[in-house]
Amino acid sequence: MDKTIPVKLDRIYFGGDYNPDQWDEKTINEDMRLFQKAHINLVTLPVFSWAKLEPKEGVYDFGWLDSIMDKLAENGIGVNLATPTVAQPAWMSRKYPEVLDVDIQGRRRTHGMRVHFCYNSPKYLERARAIASEMAKRYAKHPALKLWHVANEYGTYCYCPICRGKFILWLKNRYGSMEKLNERWYTAFWGRTLYDWEEINLPDETNDDFRFNPTVQLDYLRFVTDSTAACFRNEYDAIRQYSDKPIQTNMSGFIKKLDQFVMASNMDIVGWDNYPWPTQEMSFVAMKHDIMRGLRGGQSFLLAEQSPNQQNWQPYNVLKRPGEVRRLSWQAIAHGADSCLYFQMRQSRAGQEKFHGAVISHSGRDDTRVFRETEFLGKELETLSPHVVGKRTKAQAAIVFDWNAWWALENSSGPNRDIDYLDGVHSYYKAFYGRHISVDFVSEDADISGYKLVVLPYTYMFRPGLKEKLDSFVRNGGTLLAGALSGLVDENDHVIGEFPGALRDVLGLRIEETDALRKDCLNGIHMGGREYPCRLVCDIVIPGSAKTLGCFTKEFYAGGPAVTVNEYGAGKAYYIGSVPDSALVSDIVGKIGLSPVIRADNGLEVTLRQDESEQTLFIINHTEAPLRAELPEGFFEPLAGQTVSGSTQIAANDVRVFVRRITA
Ligand code: GLA
Ligand code: ZN
Repeated sequence: MDKTIPVKLDRIYFGGDYNPDQWDEKTINEDMRLFQKAHINLVTLPVFSWAKLEPKEGVYDFGWLDSIMDKLAENGIGVNLATPTVAQPAWMSRKYPEVLDVDIQGRRRTHGMRVHFCYNSPKYLERARAIASEMAKRYAKHPALKLWHVANEYGTYCYCPICRGKFILWLKNRYGSMEKLNERWYTAFWGRTLYDWEEINLPDETNDDFRFNPTVQLDYLRFVTDSTAACFRNEYDAIRQYSDKPIQTNMSGFIKKLDQFVMASNMDIVGWDNYPWPTQEMSFVAMKHDIMRGLRGGQSFLLAEQSPNQQNWQPYNVLKRPGEVRRLSWQAIAHGADSCLYFQMRQSRAGQEKFHGAVISHSGRDDTRVFRETEFLGKELETLSPHVVGKRTKAQAAIVFDWNAWWALENSSGPNRDIDYLDGVHSYYKAFYGRHISVDFVSEDADISGYKLVVLPYTYMFRPGLKEKLDSFVRNGGTLLAGALSGLVDENDHVIGEFPGALRDVLGLRIEETDALRKDCLNGIHMGGREYPCRLVCDIVIPGSAKTLGCFTKEFYAGGPAVTVNEYGAGKAYYIGSVPDSALVSDIVGKIGLSPVIRADNGLEVTLRQDESEQTLFIINHTEAPLRAELPEGFFEPLAGQTVSGSTQIAANDVRVFVRRITA
C-alpha cells in the first residue's frame, strides 16, 4: 500500500548541503549574508552529524542545531532536515560491531567511512529510529523545516550473518517451500538441489555455488533493495509520527545497485544526485532525469545534489565551464525537477572533499566566477519559480525501464559481455531527444494504455502480466518498438520459449540464432536506401507475418531481416534485431507520427512542462554555435520581458524559458 503523501513545493528550492558543524559563528553569520545574496532558499543539514548529535548512546545534544535552525529561519532560509544516519558514531560501531557491514569477500568493515552500516542490523535500525524520532519531535513545527532527508545515498551490499538470516526469511516468504525454491532457482542444473533452508548462503565470494546461479543473484539484489527500502522506511515512519512534511532520500547518481522504482514508492518525492562526467552526452544526462521523473509516475523530483563546479573524485576534475552549471540546472528543471541543490554550500577546509567545488570557496569571497554564476541563476529561478513548480510533462511515447531486466541482462553469461543496459536504452532515447519528442520512462507494471508508442529496449526480463498488456496495447491500435534481447526470460530468468519468447506473437517472427560482435566490430543495416551501423548482437530472424524493412549488410546472414514490422490487430509492432544506432531508431520513430514539442534545430534540447492553465517551454543550447527554434504564437519570455514567436535564434550555450497561458 502506498503510504506516501502528495507533494507540491512552495517554490523552486535553491541551495544545497551545508555543514555548519565545521564552522565557527562568525563564518556562519557571513554565510547567512552570502546565502541571501545568492537567493539561496534551502539548505540540507546535518547529513553527517550523528557523532555530534548523539555523543553517547541515548544522550542527545541538539543545542547547536537549534541555533543554526533558528538562524536560518530568521534569514528566511528553509531546511531540508537530514537524519544523520548515514554515518554512525564510533561508539556505536565499537559497542555493537554487528552494525558494521560485511563485504562481498566476507570481511567485516572497520569504522570510519560512511554508508558503513548493515541495513538489516536490529541495533542500527533501533538507534536510527530513535534519533529520527527525536529530531522529528523537536523540529516538526520549526519554521525553517521544509523537507526531510533520510540518511544519504543508500547503496551498500551487506553479506553478514544477520543478512543471511533475513535472506532466508525473505525466501521462505517468497517461495514457501524448498520444492518451489529448487524449481525457481533451477537447481537441477549442475546438481545443486537444496534440502533445507539452512543450506542457503549469500552469494558472496566465498559461496561460488550461489554466486554463479543467476536467479540467486537476482533474488539477492531484490532482497537488498527490499531491505534498504525497509531501512529507509524505518526512519520515514518514525518521522511521520510527528511531522507532515515530505520525506525523501537522495539517490546516488543513478545507480544500478538498488531498484529505484521500489525505493521511490516509499518516498514522498524522488531526489537524486547528478554528477555527469565531463564527456557525457547531454542526451544521456537528460535520459537520467527522465528516468527519475518516471519513478513516481511523472511527479516532479528533486535535483538533490550537483556540483557548482568541479568534483574531487573523478580522475581529472575539469572545471565546469562558464554557464555550464546554469545549463545543467535548467536541464534538470526542464525534465521535471523542482529544485536545484548543490553539494555543497561552503568548501570543507580538510578531508576527502577539500578540492570539491562549492558555492563559497576557500576564499570566502562573493566575487568569484562560481559565486556570481550562482547568484545569477538564483535570481532567474526566483523569477521563474511560479511558472515551473508542479508542472508535468505530457508524452505520447513511453520507454519501459526495469531494474530486474538490467540486473539479469548484465549478469547473464552470454551472448555478449559488452552489453550495457543503459547504453542500449540510450540508443533509443537519443532518437526522441534528437527529434524534440517528449518521452516518459515507465516500469513494467505501469498503465501504458494512454500512449501511442511503447518502446522496449533490452527489456530482457518480462514480469508476469507484461506480455498480455503489450498484446492488448497493440491490438487496440498502439505501436510497439522492441529491441534485441527483449522478452526472452520470465521473472526467474528462465527462458520463456522459442525466441523472442513473450514477443513472438506480437512481433510475428521467430529468432533462430543470435550472433555476438566484438566491441570494435560493427555490422550494418540497410533500410530505405540508407545504411546504419549496428552493434553487439545480430539476430537471425525468420519472419512469420512480419514484413522486412531493413536487412543486415554483413556476415553469412547479410540480406537477412534486421528490422521488421508486424500488423497486429489495429496496431503495429516493430522489431530491431541488433543494437541500433540512434539514427535508425530516429527514422523508425519518424514513421510513427509523434508530435515534437516544437520544431527546432538539431543540437537544441527542448521540453515542455504544463498544468491546466499554463505551458512552460524550455530550450537549451548545449553547443558552441547559435541555433534556431520555431516558436508558436503566444509565448512570453519572463526573463527578457518580451513576447517571442516565429523563428528565434538561441545563442550558443544559452537557456531560454518561455510561458504561454492555455486558453480553453
Ligand atoms: C555524494 C554525496 C555527498 C558528496 C558528493 C561529492 O553525492 O552524497 O556527500 O560526497 O558526493 O560529489
Ligand atoms: Zn548485514
